[in-house]
Amino acid sequence: MTLPQLADSAAAGLSQPATVIAAAPGRVNLIGEHIDYCDGFVMPFAIDRYIVIVAAPNDSKMAKLASDGLPDAIIDLSTPQDIGEPHWANYVRGVIDGFQKLGHTLPGFDAHIVSTVPGGAGLSSSAALECATATLLEGLLGLTLPKKQKALLCQKAEHEFAQVPCGIMDQFASVFGEENRIVMIDCQSEEPTLVPFENPSIAVIIANTNVHHQLTDGGYAIRRRHTEEALAKIGIASWRNVTLADVEAKWEELGDPVNRRARHIVTEIARTQAAALALEANDFTELGILMQASHVSLRDDFEVSCEELDLMVTIANDIGPRGGVLGARMTGGGFGGSTVTLCDSDQAESIMATMRMVYQQATGIEPEIFCSRPSRGAHLIR
Ligand code: GLA
Repeated sequence: MTLPQLADSAAAGLSQPATVIAAAPGRVNLIGEHIDYCDGFVMPFAIDRYIVIVAAPNDSKMAKLASDGLPDAIIDLSTPQDIGEPHWANYVRGVIDGFQKLGHTLPGFDAHIVSTVPGGAGLSSSAALECATATLLEGLLGLTLPKKQKALLCQKAEHEFAQVPCGIMDQFASVFGEENRIVMIDCQSEEPTLVPFENPSIAVIIANTNVHHQLTDGGYAIRRRHTEEALAKIGIASWRNVTLADVEAKWEELGDPVNRRARHIVTEIARTQAAALALEANDFTELGILMQASHVSLRDDFEVSCEELDLMVTIANDIGPRGGVLGARMTGGGFGGSTVTLCDSDQAESIMATMRMVYQQATGIEPEIFCSRPSRGAHLIR
């Protein structure tokens, strides 16, 4: 579904004409995983899957939110925000809280929310909801926040209202995304650079395994703690300045698995720097090799992959360069979710068909597999 079609379907769900329509995309990350909270570099782009919110003022002090298939939510805009029910609306509450803390008084509104970003798929549907909400509130207030401030406000909403200690990658990709551009982020300076990614002979396949391992939901916070523990023991202020030799020198002291977590961080930062150079040189073969190595590190050292992700990555990598696959890896937080595969455009259809068929035969699960190109970040449609 195109963005205008999605906006029309959202507007159809509102009982009065919409005055503000906001959209924000999900993201896929090419490389640089679990290092956005370790002063690393990341290479995501905004995908052409969006959350759209349509709204109209309602002459009250309430935000009334509806979304197909989810319980309605009513949020009192005249009081400070708190975590509440329904759970999904906490992303919205968190962003409202951010605007209130900036001193804004929000008008009451009715809103209808629709989405083509698959949830729980490692494609940042939560960041898309936060960034779409922030864009909607900008529209309702008739103001525009600086992009970086807006992305950080959304990240804070995720920390405080969804209680996920995420890095900056997802919200930056959703806010700063542009067509044909990768949002390369230096997570130490928190500065994004838009890097061209427009070679028509290269395609990116996203494969949602359709599994999400609930039991390991605390895994993200635990990984983050491991990296903090490791850095404190290594005794260097920033991961940016830690070498593999520094990690190896402390291997026994760090102990397992913290030493392997540390090895992932330093090798992934190096791989992402190498990937940026490969991209600059149009060397997609090298980029694909780096992506494969990233997956191995995430699987064995950081242990955030799972059987289904490993299988999907293996199916793609087994097709190999002769079949048009340059490299595949898991993308996003892990423990289920999606993989990203870099491939030749003219072979993308047959690669996707093979991935779909072999994965489904092996698991009995129907995956969701599609191509995506870098797309426009959060914006007002009206
Ligand atoms: C999640 C987080 C991001 C990032 C990735 C892993 O998507 O929200 O900040 O840490 O996991 O790279």
